[in-house]
Amino acid sequence: MRTIGVGLIGTGFMGRCHTLAYRSVRAVFDTPLSPRLVQVCDRRADAARHHAERCGFEKSTDDWRVLVDDPDVDIVSITTPNKFHCDMALAALAAGKHVYCEKPLALTLDEAERMAAAATKAAGRTIVGYGYLCNPLYQHATGLVRSGAIGRPLFFRGVCDEDYQADPELPWSWRSAKAEAGLGVLGDMMCHLVSMADGLLGPIESVLADCRIHYATRPSGDGGERLAVENEDIASALVTFESGVTGMLSSSRAAWGRKNHLAWELHGDAGMLVQDQERMNELQIYRNEGPKSDQGFKTILAGPAHEPYGNFCPAPGHGLGFNDLKTIELANFLNAIADNAPAYPDFAAALRFERVIHAIARSGESGARVRADKTG
Ligand SMILES: NC(=O)c1ccc[n+]([C@@H]2O[C@H](COP(=O)([O-])OP(=O)(O)OC[C@H]3O[C@@H](n4cnc5c(N)ncnc54)[C@H](O)[C@@H]3O)[C@@H](O)[C@H]2O)c1
Repeated sequence: MRTIGVGLIGTGFMGRCHTLAYRSVRAVFDTPLSPRLVQVCDRRADAARHHAERCGFEKSTDDWRVLVDDPDVDIVSITTPNKFHCDMALAALAAGKHVYCEKPLALTLDEAERMAAAATKAAGRTIVGYGYLCNPLYQHATGLVRSGAIGRPLFFRGVCDEDYQADPELPWSWRSAKAEAGLGVLGDMMCHLVSMADGLLGPIESVLADCRIHYATRPSGDGGERLAVENEDIASALVTFESGVTGMLSSSRAAWGRKNHLAWELHGDAGMLVQDQERMNELQIYRNEGPKSDQGFKTILAGPAHEPYGNFCPAPGHGLGFNDLKTIELANFLNAIADNAPAYPDFAAALRFERVIHAIARSGESGARVRADKTG
């Protein structure tokens, strides 16, 4: 077993989530590489120092370039706001590091294209933080679709709703600025739904969308003038997959009562699958079989039969959580690095999702159907 040096940039929500994964991955998985927590960076030096002391990083800094240049760092985790992803990832790849970048890949489609191009030439491996793909029951669902359990796929309907910006008086944050976040709910949440639809049915070919800003301004937070919200609160799209399957996607960050309603249903000609991340340990399946009087949806509860649930817990129905998905994601990445093989989703796959969300944004502006490929 070899050690692999970790550098983490950002100590917020996702910084903590990556740290949990680095600290727990070897307790859960027999990965050939064991993380060594080398250096943590935050633009606030005190936050970086505190995180290092609390979580066991050897060093801290407020300059991410110092971290990227550290010869003891092999993997760079990027958990900063979207506007930093491109510069940090390009520098880390150029320095020969492996890169674990949070989603969305970048601020703009052009940046995402440059990141994916750099990754194809780099020695380091890449992965992007689409952790919901690691839900064992989601993986089970993809297997059920491939095996024909619900017949021929006909239609996909997905939503990704939360209420973290439902309050019109919530103070303005970087998430509302094009220069800081890029897209709004499309980059924050819709991209997760796109990644899941892609995994079930393959690439999305074209979209026809409607995007809206509902709260045009927000309080500045310091008692000053209200600040403009520059990116969409709600986005909806009719989509066509390359396979010919059609679907509907919608996502709102202003949906009161919804906490992580990342939910989808896939209609087949012999049945249906339904999943909702708010009930992430359940998968529903309906099959058109047996007497009509007994037909109905069946709920499958997550358990050791759904790998790698059993690595966490030998008992079915006890449930995994959001952070466990990050641990699975990290184990996948460490295995890919050890095997010198692509991880999933790497920058190339994440670029495919990025093209879809930017196509939805363009379609929302023009009102026209837009192809979700490079040419737009
Ligand atoms: N995969 C998921 O489910 C998921 C969930 C939430 C957020 N995210 C993504 O993670 C990223 C971060 O989001 P978050 O919610 O953790 O944000 P956050 O605001 O909680 O944390 C961001 C951290 O980055 C630090 N930071 C900002 N600029 C920096 C710089 N130049 N150098 C070093 N540190 C800097 C901040 O001080 C803060 O500690 C975003 O890209 C977001 O889209 C992913």
